Amino acid sequence: MLKTALIGAGRIGQVHAANIASNPLSELTAITDIFIGNAHKLADKYQSKVLTLDEILADKNIEAVVIASATDTHSDLIEQAARAGKAIFCEKPIDLDSKRVMRCLKIVKECNAKLMIGFNRRFDPDFSALQQRYLSGAFGAAEVLQITSRDPSPPPVEYIKVSGGLFRDMSIHDLDMARFILNEEPIAVSASASCIVEPAIGKCGDVDTALITLEFASGALVSISNSRRTTYGYDQRIELHAAKGMLQADNVRESNIIETTDAGVNSAKAEYFFLERYMPAYDAEWNHFSESVLNNTEFSCTAQDGAKALVMAELAHTALITGQKQYFDWDKLL
Ligand SMILES: NC(=O)c1ccc[n+]([C@@H]2O[C@H](COP(=O)([O-])OP(=O)(O)OC[C@H]3O[C@@H](n4cnc5c(N)ncnc54)[C@H](O)[C@@H]3O)[C@@H](O)[C@H]2O)c1
Repeated sequence: MLKTALIGAGRIGQVHAANIASNPLSELTAITDIFIGNAHKLADKYQSKVLTLDEILADKNIEAVVIASATDTHSDLIEQAARAGKAIFCEKPIDLDSKRVMRCLKIVKECNAKLMIGFNRRFDPDFSALQQRYLSGAFGAAEVLQITSRDPSPPPVEYIKVSGGLFRDMSIHDLDMARFILNEEPIAVSASASCIVEPAIGKCGDVDTALITLEFASGALVSISNSRRTTYGYDQRIELHAAKGMLQADNVRESNIIETTDAGVNSAKAEYFFLERYMPAYDAEWNHFSESVLNNTEFSCTAQDGAKALVMAELAHTALITGQKQYFDWDKLL
């Protein structure tokens, strides 16, 4: 059993707490949060205990930590946990600044620490099956990968102000999916965006609607379509057109019932948001982390993957503000 402490008992921390506590490979040994009430609520629910961060780091029985606190705490907490010899699962993103990320990863390397980043969509059963089918070679070379990712409604403006902007906060998942599915590195990025959903987002200097195009050395193109609003739930679809056919992963719906009458065809909406849509993915993600730490095997979503997704988001932002296509120089960037 992997004795695990949870740092941050908010929205995503509650998902991780449930998965740590229910997985036979792990134990939710302790919880900490700067709002102590959040930690106590979760500790009571899962018969865990509340400790301070220092107590967690000093406790040699605790082998792993899950960092699910606010983004601006991630890189500091990763460094502290690495120095304390813990295996680390950290929510995306590592930081909002790639230079800070590289300093953090240097310390992780020096400490020989294990670090996995929480790009949960890699563990979605449909998306990972689509990737496996493509990588089997049965569909030939990829030509165009279309990733649609739209939230049901914009987050509060207070969240937008500290989010790092649409690309670093939201598109970062889709940028990671592009590398994950095609299993190669992009060579260039261009972007267009506007603020047409929520004027308050524009007042913060951010955008709510975006198209990102990635080019890969193989010639494959990726188109990412993002929005902060839909009228029909969380829109999460992938379509890969390849030389020998097409692979599609459709939305997961609230119900599988389809009603057909002389008036037409009716089916349920997409599941509401990430807490509904990606529950199986978070569970599989945690299982992968626990197994990899206990068996001392590689993570399928590494610290380098986390760093690359952030660099892609930063360069997409540069492409947007300059209106110029940007080229990745991976040796120089990382
Ligand atoms: N992978 C995903 O699908 C996904 C989904 C949601 C959020 N996230 C990421 O998870 C992180 C948390 O997001 P959230 O929506 O759960 O936020 P949240 O505000 O609901 O929860 C954050 C919690 O962390 C606590 N906290 C803040 N600083 C802390 C510190 N120094 N030590 C201990 N606790 C601290 C807060 O008190 C709060 O309880 C963010 O980085 C976000 O990007 C990832």
